[in-house]
Amino acid sequence: MPENAAGVLARFRQMPNDSRAKTLIVALLLCLVCSVVVSTAAVRLKPLQVANADLDRKRNILQVAGLLREDRGIEDLFANIETRIVDLDTGKYTDAVESGNYDQRRAARDPALSEVLTGDEDVANIGRRAKYATVYLVRENGALKTLVLPVHGYGLWSTLYGFLALQGDTRSVFGLQFYDHAETPGLGGEVDNPNWRAQWRGKLVFDEQNRPRLEVVKGRVTPGPDERYQVDGLAGATLTSVGVSKLLRFWLGERGFGPYLANVREGMQ
Ligand SMILES: Cc1cc2nc3c(=O)[nH]c(=O)nc-3n(C[C@H](O)[C@H](O)[C@H](O)COP(=O)(O)O)c2cc1C
Repeated sequence: MPENAAGVLARFRQMPNDSRAKTLIVALLLCLVCSVVVSTAAVRLKPLQVANADLDRKRNILQVAGLLREDRGIEDLFANIETRIVDLDTGKYTDAVESGNYDQRRAARDPALSEVLTGDEDVANIGRRAKYATVYLVRENGALKTLVLPVHGYGLWSTLYGFLALQGDTRSVFGLQFYDHAETPGLGGEVDNPNWRAQWRGKLVFDEQNRPRLEVVKGRVTPGPDERYQVDGLAGATLTSVGVSKLLRFWLGERGFGPYLANVREGMQ
């Protein structure tokens, strides 16, 4: 050890243990060591986190499309799903970005890859919307069986991120599932309740003029002509319920997947 360093160490050891300077030096050294350990762990674990997040996204897509099975691996099952990128303005498929690397959530924060939503347009309270969206298609004998669309919008405390699965005719729901939100467990968090989620299957999405009609009502759905478009409200969580209705209205509308769904219906996509 160099003489200087040895001298410093010797002086440090001679300091009384209850001296203010020694306490501060020990605390600082401890912070330094801990921060190095934490940063190294964060950097080393990053690829694993990314891979796990990707697997979780695939698991959610398979689940909302009714394809998740215990006896088969996620990657294996996901191989049957076709992933495409849609230009939301034109409603057409595009190769402008590569589907394997495209992160729609990140793109929505990037001015080059997103658009600002002005007051009336921003029904879902999201501020910006990515120009391109990733959609997932499940085909059976060549025909579209299920179409999974990423959706998000603001609830009460958080932005809810999820997937809406439509039947191949794009007119009725197969499932709705959120994978990321911070609504209160037992209140807004009941969006994850399987009983509530089960209500969505078969509900109609558009009215006769192809305007989005799907919604969560306050309280219970009352029998009548509108019930085919409606799902019960979450008890004590009207604000989250309204958030879900609004995000569906946005993503099924003109600034969301409206143009794309019209193209799919007309057989142009
Ligand atoms: C601690 C706390 C957490 C709440 N969390 C939610 C929530 O996650 N979602 C929600 O819509 N309302 C939540 N609420 C209730 C709202 O403030 C509001 O009262 C409610 O949405 C009104 O719904 P209701 O008309 O069905 O009672 C929470 C209230 C409290 C006190």
